[in-house]
Amino acid sequence: METVLYKDTIEDIEKAAKVIAGGGLIAFPTETVYGLGADALNEEACRNIYAAKGRPSDNPMIVHIAKIEDMDELSMIITDDMRALADNFWPGPLTMICPRKPAIPDVTTGGLDTVGIRMPSNEVARALIEKAGCSIAAPSANLSGKPSPTTAQHCIDDLTGKIDGIIVSDDCSVGIESTVIDMTGEVPMILRPGYITKADLERVLGKTVVLDPTLNKKPDSLDDGDFKPKAPGMKYKHYAPEAQMTIYSGPKDKVLAEIAAQAEKLELDGLKVAKLLFDDADSAARELFARLRQADKEGADVILAAALDEDGLGFSVMNRMFKSAGFNVVNL
Ligand code: TXA
Ligand code: MG
Repeated sequence: METVLYKDTIEDIEKAAKVIAGGGLIAFPTETVYGLGADALNEEACRNIYAAKGRPSDNPMIVHIAKIEDMDELSMIITDDMRALADNFWPGPLTMICPRKPAIPDVTTGGLDTVGIRMPSNEVARALIEKAGCSIAAPSANLSGKPSPTTAQHCIDDLTGKIDGIIVSDDCSVGIESTVIDMTGEVPMILRPGYITKADLERVLGKTVVLDPTLNKKPDSLDDGDFKPKAPGMKYKHYAPEAQMTIYSGPKDKVLAEIAAQAEKLELDGLKVAKLLFDDADSAARELFARLRQADKEGADVILAAALDEDGLGFSVMNRMFKSAGFNVVNL
């Protein structure tokens, strides 16, 4: 299949929107990561997303909308809490899990009776949804198991020949996927941490929000059977670079000294080493996935990473880093 590259001009976005409305697949930018979109109510188009990504079909997709009212067509009920979160964080990097309406095909929701809904803030994404005239189901636009794409080039590398088109636009400003919060239970629960943190959500809701207890825990550190993340996608091995990755955790000076010493030793052994040292959680979020892909491109054998403090956005970045490293952590 020929994959058309579109510019992020209104004329080109309109062309790409027509492809979506006609049942095709388009990769497009959002503020978090690039998404691979199809008409959320078109069963066959959504099925094709799984095939293009090589994604397990029990993994539900997030449905993207252009205005808050579009939620009415997707969710059975809209509670005061859902409305408060929509008013405060949309458009933006927040996905709410809501009770689904029957019109949404099973293939979009992975057969669940809930649906993940998000209104992105990226202008190109919003224009694409509006012009297509439908909600857009979109997982991240990477091959399953690769780091999520934060640049158009990442989508080109992964999906050329497999989808109808890619909208080539700016690099993603957030860089990690949206916060996923389950609004269907007694207490709101974060299923995937992101840019919008537990504290942000609690401030708006005026009540406690819990974290899925499996988050940032090594799978085999939990009792057998306990490791059942509530978001199906969180159980898969994600973001895995080809290099062997180790995270160093502890006092900053010790961590930096150990990474420098290890790198010198490994390089003497003839191995290619990539280091992941970030100034702060924001730049770590923005750069992590691109740096992992870069390490693979350069043929790195080993990646040595400095852990971030696990609070606020740092918790969300570490969620991805732990998975990339297969929870291979050295505590200093
Ligand atoms: O930032 C993002 O959310 C990006 C951009 C493109 O919007 N999308 C994204 O989609 O990251 P994806 O498919 O790579 O990740 C969706 C996550 C998965 O872990 C999935 O299991 C979970 O959200 N999810 C989706 N619908 C769900 C539902 N109804 N119940 C529980 N988890 C759900
Ligand atoms: Mg993904």
